[in-house]
Amino acid sequence: SLDSYYVSEDLGFILHEPMTELPSYYQPWMDIALHLPELVLSHELRSRVSRMPLLSSQYLHSHRELRLAHLALGATTMSYVWQEGEHHTVKVLPQNLALPYWEVSERLGLPPIFIHADAVLANWKKRDSEKPFDIANLDLVVRLPGGESLRGFFMVTLLVELAAIPALKSIPKVCRGVSSGYIVDVAQALQDISKSIHDMTEALKLMHVYVEPSVFYGIIRIYLSGWKDNPSMPNGLIYEGVSPEPMEFSGGSAAQSSLLHCFDELLGIKHEAKGGAFLTRMRDYMPPAHTQMIKDISSWPSLRCFVHEQCDEELNQAYQLCVTELTEFRNYHINMVSRYITIPAARARQLRLEKTTEEEMIAKAPTALEERGTGGSSIMSFLKTVRDETKQVFPTVN
Ligand code: ALA
Repeated sequence: SLDSYYVSEDLGFILHEPMTELPSYYQPWMDIALHLPELVLSHELRSRVSRMPLLSSQYLHSHRELRLAHLALGATTMSYVWQEGEHHTVKVLPQNLALPYWEVSERLGLPPIFIHADAVLANWKKRDSEKPFDIANLDLVVRLPGGESLRGFFMVTLLVELAAIPALKSIPKVCRGVSSGYIVDVAQALQDISKSIHDMTEALKLMHVYVEPSVFYGIIRIYLSGWKDNPSMPNGLIYEGVSPEPMEFSGGSAAQSSLLHCFDELLGIKHEAKGGAFLTRMRDYMPPAHTQMIKDISSWPSLRCFVHEQCDEELNQAYQLCVTELTEFRNYHINMVSRYITIPAARARQLRLEKTTEEEMIAKAPTALEERGTGGSSIMSFLKTVRDETKQVFPTVN
């Protein structure tokens, strides 16, 4: 059942009612974390962090408290590292931030960097608790620079997670149907999954409504970047008080959402060496219970072989529909990368060449990640390879 993976029937991978406040002992953290955009803009964040007291993480108890602490310390860490842009990063994260962040991360089984499970899954609240879970009524708990586009970027991603819930609920039905040989049940569950993936693509399209490409590229993106596979931070980051050696962690990536990993495993879609290794590594950047669900799906009897063996028209079509919808979703993601990264990157190069002051924001965007994702992958070729591997999955059978 989904419960055993901390995946709920009504919210899927999304954290239930994320906390918005920590016990008052942790006020020094929250006083900073709830004001990151202002503190970064006034260049005060680093000095505020250096004056922050060293607090023990031992007064954090529940999972939800720990998740809020991971979100708050993670967003503060990104702001600390990137406050002065790609050319003025830091080598050391000071102990009063690094040590408790490390402890909280250990307890959650998460890496000490800002991830999808922080930014999206644990970073929402309803403006009015009586009103529905929709974008007009949703707000962030912790913000980074980027204003309404930042809210849009995280909230639209949250809506994609929401749209996937019917598919998540149908995954155990596929498994049961395959084990018991009920072709009709499997076909029905696959149809429900394909509808849900279709709705995920529709939700993703809202990105164009809520996120401004120049703000995303010029302002937001750097704060999602990490210190692995990033030419701006070639040596990683020292977590002071944890280890004298620098450590490398990848920046935020959609590959940290467990959704597509589940669908790939269910449908038997395999990824080649390089992209596959990146996707596998991103499973260490998810809540461990969610990673376990992906692993368990991969250990089930193969749906793909089942579909092949049954030679049932309706079952074939339902499987193929899932593949088609997943390919469409990945196509749309590629389209978004051109709009939000490739095109603004070209425009930024042009503006720097012309030395105009116009659209300064975009021209000041960091250059290190023009062709990489904030997670560090070669963004376009990676996404296209993964898309093609999805498209080709049928009818070859192992
Ligand atoms: N991974 C997304 C990017 O590359 C956030 O910008």
